[in-house]
Amino acid sequence: MLFFALLLKVTWILATDGGHHWTYEGPHGQDHWPTSYPECGGDAQSPINIQTDSVIFDPDLPAVQPHGYDQPGTEPLDLHNNGHTVQLSLPSTLHLGGLPRKYTAAQLHLHWGQKGSQEGSEHQINSEATVAEACSVGALLLQTHDSAASLAYTPPQVGEAENPAYRHILSHLHEIRHKDQITSVPPFNVRELLPQQLEQFFRYNGSLTTPPCYQSVLWTVFHRRAQISVEQLDKLQGTLFSTEEEPLAPLIQNYRIPQPLNQRTIFASFVQAGPLYTTGEMLGLGVGILAGCLCLLLAVYFIAQKIRKKRLGNRKSVAFTSARATTEA
Ligand SMILES: *[C@@H]1O[C@H](CO)[C@@H](O)[C@H](O)[C@H]1NC(C)=O
Repeated sequence: MLFFALLLKVTWILATDGGHHWTYEGPHGQDHWPTSYPECGGDAQSPINIQTDSVIFDPDLPAVQPHGYDQPGTEPLDLHNNGHTVQLSLPSTLHLGGLPRKYTAAQLHLHWGQKGSQEGSEHQINSEATVAEACSVGALLLQTHDSAASLAYTPPQVGEAENPAYRHILSHLHEIRHKDQITSVPPFNVRELLPQQLEQFFRYNGSLTTPPCYQSVLWTVFHRRAQISVEQLDKLQGTLFSTEEEPLAPLIQNYRIPQPLNQRTIFASFVQAGPLYTTGEMLGLGVGILAGCLCLLLAVYFIAQKIRKKRLGNRKSVAFTSARATTEA
């Protein structure tokens, strides 16, 4: 996935992870993060699996507004292999609106799976993971980590067509194959990494998905997915190393598994389309509709009967009136 982290603050937050070595698998893997980073064991962690039948529709959630994302300036952007992910630094002229506070851009990064894998996203929707995830992080200009960041993400799906926005990142990966390598990429329209339609999203309170896992992140998970091509996914899964030198270890599977939702509420800015009902409910609905149709038919029949009777009555009275007129004449 792609994270757009916004602002120096987030850079600072992500940089100050306490210096403990951590990985996704093995003795320093995600199960062990809480030992060195207690907040990783908290009860409001990210990512999560979003069960769409238990989200709460909130009609007052405004759409996220990415400001300046389509004009990232003239300065080249830093692209960094930090051993955990590939991270694009964003200029602080970029910020996110439509959130409870204004968040300034800091960086954007990606999560993906192993070579050939169809799983790599962190967030899941109805237990379904996608090949990768793209996120945008916004941070507040505040002094403490508890007011840190907001991330938005778009989980890509694989298709035929290449995604031109991802090309700006993926075509430079070979320049930063080893950990701690940095390259410059020409500024590009970062807005294109976000879905076209920003109105449909899920919103919840969570955490950074990497140590130190601070529980200060307001998440926006877009419903719409971006598309990347098979070649692009191959490149993402197969180019980078998580180590500086030999022995080289591939930088893959850099995603955290979904964390317990606990008491949190997930809000949705939209009403779910798609299969709203289970089979049983559909059957019930079908029977209900049939019964409804039958009642309607009967009602129409009786009304028609009534109208006919009334017409007959009217005709009688008309006949009577004219008869009387005739008599009077
Ligand atoms: C997140 O937490 C804050 C503080 O508790 C609360 O005011 C806000 O409504 C929560 N937002 C969501 C989306 O749950």
